[in-house]
Amino acid sequence: METICLKSEIDAARRLRDGQLVAIPTETVFGLAADATNETAVNKIFIAKGRPSDNPLIVHLADATQWRLAASQLTESAAVLLQAFAPGPITVVLPKCASISERVTAGLDTVAIRIPSCPITHRVLAAARIPIAAPSANLSGKPSCTTWQSVLEDLDGRIDAILCENPKTFGLESTVVDCCQEQPILLRPGAITIDDIRRHFPSARTATDETISAMPKTAPGIDFNSPGLKHPHYRPNAEVKLFENLSKLSDDCQATVSELCSGAACCCLDEIPSGMVCALGRQFASVEEYAAGFYEFLREADRRRVKTIYVQLAPPHGIGLALRDRQLRAAGIL
Ligand code: TXA
Ligand code: MG
Repeated sequence: METICLKSEIDAARRLRDGQLVAIPTETVFGLAADATNETAVNKIFIAKGRPSDNPLIVHLADATQWRLAASQLTESAAVLLQAFAPGPITVVLPKCASISERVTAGLDTVAIRIPSCPITHRVLAAARIPIAAPSANLSGKPSCTTWQSVLEDLDGRIDAILCENPKTFGLESTVVDCCQEQPILLRPGAITIDDIRRHFPSARTATDETISAMPKTAPGIDFNSPGLKHPHYRPNAEVKLFENLSKLSDDCQATVSELCSGAACCCLDEIPSGMVCALGRQFASVEEYAAGFYEFLREADRRRVKTIYVQLAPPHGIGLALRDRQLRAAGIL
């Protein structure tokens, strides 16, 4: 199959209504979109990505008022969070409605819904007028994509079309919040932080933040309630080694930073010492820029076939907590 590069959101929407697989940008990462009510189309998502069938998909809607297209009930906590943060990088988990394919929800009786704020995504959804299932547009287990060129590296020939636009993104997937109980539970950290959620629900729980802050050496075996998180994620081909700061890296590894990094890649927030030579080195100016550029950095390191990527862990608060979660997973620790 030849993957067609599209410029028109209307064309993308028409193809989605026809049951095609179309990669589209969002304000978080690229999504691999299909009609959530069409079981054949949804099946094609799992095949194209090589995605395990027990990992449910997020349903994307143009507007929060359309929740009935996917959910059977809008709980109080979901209503509050959608009012506060949608459209935007938040996904709420609700009891599912009957018209959503069982394939989308991986047999669960709940469904995850999200209203993207990216104007391009919004125009596709508004023109399609159907609920759109979309996981991140990457081969299963690989880093997500923040450019259409990266999507094609993974999925060219495996999907029908791609909307070739590169909007500015947060660079990390949406915050996923289980809203089936009275108190929301954070299942996956993202740009909407646990502090943002606790401004509305002071006793909102999260299974992840202490684990992520502590940088455990082994998998903690916590039940995150989010089925996808038990599978490997965000793994480049290169080995990922984590460090808290550059001075500690050389102490820990009994070698100078430049010895460690020659021929390797290194991304950090710290200033890169003069004399340090990497095959690929990047200092990000802020945690936000680090989050936005992290996946593309991993992918660029793989393009250059480096063996090791040294990654400075993000500080464990704000969007840094979400980035740190992805970094630990990229290294195979979570
Ligand atoms: O930002 C995003 O959320 C991107 C863009 C494309 O919207 N999408 C995305 O999808 O990251 P994906 O499939 O890569 O991740 C979806 C996550 C998985 O961890 C999955 O297990 C969880 O959402 N999820 C989906 N439905 C769920 C449900 N009913 N209950 C609990 N977790 C669910
Ligand atoms: Mg994904």
